[in-house]
Amino acid sequence: MSDITNLEVALGSRSYHVLVGEGLLAQAGDQVRRVAPAERVTLISNDTVFELYGDAVVQALKAAGYSVDVVRVGDGERHKSLSAATNIYEKLTSFGAQRWDPVVVLGGGVIGDLGGFVAGTYMRGVPLIHVPTTLLAQVDSSIGGKTAVNLPAGKNLVGMFYQPRLVLSDIAVLASLPAKYALGGLSEVLKYGFLEGKDLLAFVEGNLADVIALRSSEMRQVVAWCCKTKARVVSEDERDEGRRAILNFGHTVGHALETLQGYGTYEHGEAVSIGMAAAAVIGLKAGLTDETTARKVVGLLSRAGLPVRLPSVPAEVIAGSILLDKKARDRQMRFVLLRKIGEPVVTSVPEDVVVGSLGQANHLIDRML
Ligand SMILES: NC(=O)c1ccc[n+]([C@@H]2O[C@H](COP(=O)([O-])OP(=O)(O)OC[C@H]3O[C@@H](n4cnc5c(N)ncnc54)[C@H](O)[C@@H]3O)[C@@H](O)[C@H]2O)c1
Ligand SMILES: [Zn+2]
Repeated sequence: MSDITNLEVALGSRSYHVLVGEGLLAQAGDQVRRVAPAERVTLISNDTVFELYGDAVVQALKAAGYSVDVVRVGDGERHKSLSAATNIYEKLTSFGAQRWDPVVVLGGGVIGDLGGFVAGTYMRGVPLIHVPTTLLAQVDSSIGGKTAVNLPAGKNLVGMFYQPRLVLSDIAVLASLPAKYALGGLSEVLKYGFLEGKDLLAFVEGNLADVIALRSSEMRQVVAWCCKTKARVVSEDERDEGRRAILNFGHTVGHALETLQGYGTYEHGEAVSIGMAAAAVIGLKAGLTDETTARKVVGLLSRAGLPVRLPSVPAEVIAGSILLDKKARDRQMRFVLLRKIGEPVVTSVPEDVVVGSLGQANHLIDRML
C-alpha cells in the first residue's frame, strides 16, 4: 500500500506506531496481528460507525485468522458512561475474552475514550488498537493514551492514561463525516498549525478549500502532520504534567463556553475556535502576542468557517467559569498564549486582564477581520 505515513509515539516500553493513509481498514487484520497476536479479538464500535465500516474491519480481522466478537454501543456522548463500560465488561466476559486478546476500537472520540477505558481496566489492561474515524479522533484523541468516562458531575471525571498498541487512521473514512464534525476537527487542525509553526499553517492556508472539504490527498498530509506534533508533545510529557499543556491552546475559554452554554450548544471545536480567538486577544492585551500573529489566528479561523466572536455572555461570567475550572490557581488563570505562530507559552494571566480582554474581544476581533 502506497502513501502510508508511519509515525512513532516514543514512550519507551509503551511506544507505538500511528499509521495514516487511505485503505488502512482493509489492512486492520495484519496490522493488529503484528502488535497483538491472539486467537480472538473484540471490536467495539457504535451503531452509526459500525453500519458504515464495521463489516470491512470484521472481514479484515477474520482474514488475518482472528475470530471476532462485536460490541455495539449507542451513538453519542451520553454513552461515555460507567454503565456503558459495565455492559461492555459483561460482554467481554461472556465472550471469554482473555487478557492477551486485543480490543479494537472503531469510532470517534467518544467510542475511543470509552473503549480505551474498558481496554485499560478489563483484566487490568488488554491490548488496545484505536481505529479513529472522526477528524478529531485522528488528530487528537486516539494519540496520547487519555481514556475516560463521564460522571453526572462532569465530563471525563473517571479515567486513566492507557496507551494503545497501535493507531490506524484511515483517511478514506472521513468522506462520510457530517459537516459539523469536519469543521470541529478542523479547529483542532488549525490549533496544531498555530502551535507547530509556519509549514503546517501555510499548507492549510494554501489548500484551505480542499482541507475544508476533507479531500483525501490533502488530509493525508494534514492528519499526519498533526499526529506528528501530538506524538512529539506526548512523548515529552506523557501524563500531562508540563509541556502537554500547550495542546490546551483555545481550550481555557473554550471549555468555559461549553460549560456555560451547556454541552452540545457548541461543537467542541467551535468553542475551541472562539477560545483561540479570545487567547489571541488576551495575548495582545497582555503584551505577549503581536498584532500580526493575533490577526493571523483570527483571520484563518474565520476564513475556515469557524466562529471567532464570543457569545453575549458577560466577561465576568466567563472569567468566573474559568476560575472554577481546574486550570485556575490563586485567581490567576492559566492560558496558552502565542508569542508568535509556532511559539506557544503557558502563562498565568491576572483576572482583571482576562476580564478586560474578553470585554473588548468582539470589538477587536471585528477590526481584525
Ligand atoms: N482522549 C483524548 O485525548 C480526547 C481528546 C479530545 C476529545 N476527546 C473526547 O472525544 C469526544 C468527541 O469526539 P468526536 O468529536 O470524535 O465525537 P463522536 O465520537 O461523538 O463522533 C461524532 C459523530 O460522528 C459519527 N461518526 C464518527 N465517525 C464517522 C464517520 N467516519 N462517518 C460518519 N459518521 C461518523 C459518530 O457516530 C458521532 O455521531 C469527547 O467525548 C471528548 O471528550 C478525547
Ligand atoms: Zn479539543
